[in-house]
Amino acid sequence: MHKDSYGLAITAASAEAVTAYNHVIDGYLGYRADMARRMGALMAIDPECPMAHCLKGYFTLLGFNQAGLPTARQAAADTWRLVAAATPREHSHAAALDAWVNGAADRAVEIWNQILHDWPHDILAFRLAHFVNFWLGRPEAMLASVRAVERHWSHAEPAYNAILGCRAFAHEECGYYTEAEAAGREAIRRDPTDVWSAHAVAHVMEMQGRRGEGIAWIEGLQSNWSGANNLKHHLWWHQAMCHLERGDFAKVLDLYDTGYRNHQSELTQAMPDLYIDAQNAASMLFRLGRHGVDPGDRWAELADRAEARIGDCLSAFTLPHWMMALAATGREEAANRMLDAMRDNADQTGGLNATLVRTVALPVTEAVLRNSQGRHADAVRLMRPVIGEMYRLGGSHAQQDVLEQLFLDSALKAGLDADVRLLIERVSGRHPVPPHRRIGYAMASAHG
Ligand SMILES: [Fe+2]
Repeated sequence: MHKDSYGLAITAASAEAVTAYNHVIDGYLGYRADMARRMGALMAIDPECPMAHCLKGYFTLLGFNQAGLPTARQAAADTWRLVAAATPREHSHAAALDAWVNGAADRAVEIWNQILHDWPHDILAFRLAHFVNFWLGRPEAMLASVRAVERHWSHAEPAYNAILGCRAFAHEECGYYTEAEAAGREAIRRDPTDVWSAHAVAHVMEMQGRRGEGIAWIEGLQSNWSGANNLKHHLWWHQAMCHLERGDFAKVLDLYDTGYRNHQSELTQAMPDLYIDAQNAASMLFRLGRHGVDPGDRWAELADRAEARIGDCLSAFTLPHWMMALAATGREEAANRMLDAMRDNADQTGGLNATLVRTVALPVTEAVLRNSQGRHADAVRLMRPVIGEMYRLGGSHAQQDVLEQLFLDSALKAGLDADVRLLIERVSGRHPVPPHRRIGYAMASAHG
């Protein structure tokens, strides 16, 4: 029996296949852009490797794109077929993939947690649980996972950076900024190419209002990101958030064109509608719109992507972002078609995501449209019952902020003072920086 880099038994045809498998896992942990090449090499060397097919399914689902579902389903079927003679751990991965591809992401997390209980060095299960918990709005589960696993790891192990990066981000999202920054900085000292750890520290600076440090942090590290995937776009979005807070809108737009929505980038060209890129772009243009900044023709390209994705509800948090693009470009027919498709999705599919789309994403996404139509009281009415549930759509505090700004904008324009006060009280209690020091809230902070 072969063993992978972490000492775990793996069913593979040869030592060469295990080396290729390790190379794939290293690429996943490092947010590398060349994952297709790494996966292709593994499949070519060992087309019957169960975990290769499982990884194919996992990586397809990580894109939150409905067009990938047939590929993921086939990968799950192939994995089931191949794990018949494999190890119990590989069996569990097949079960987790099966649950995830069938809409039960929460069940997949349970299986990954069970794998980690038995094999705490299964860095794949750890990182997938971290990711899916994040997109289910469960930072406390991210932190519990880190705490359960990290005591089994030593600093000397090659993938320890992945533990540190997740330690940093889980603590940040739970509000433990000192622990988060220490872990993130340690990770960067060990490996300056570690984009997930760089990202965690950027979040700490965002939440503490350290805009100058945030800009310097990202500018100082970006020379290490040449081989990184779309997460580097998101890091430039974080940098732009710092410039936005300083009122430097020209720099925010410059980074839009050269960084987080860079059309010259091979990554953006290859995946123009990747969920994180769509979120970065739409949420920033929406914020800029609140300050009267002319977006030029930037919305139109995003709206084209949004129209092409109508009916795809796999990423619940991305849905209001897609709607921002349709609403900003006045594409009412497409906007209504998108809302109908979301209702149909909620009716026709089961599982946790369908529930979240129906109960939370749908009213928030409709509120985006009503806000743009000038029906501000309707937007507030739609969002008020779910304002405390929006975290379940996933995303960080920094990302959820745009939905809070949507509510605030609607309440201000509708003259609903009690709702303005409600929102200011919520953000005052949840964000360490007081509203009067945040550009999206300063105009309303007197209501608090
Ligand atoms: Fe982020």
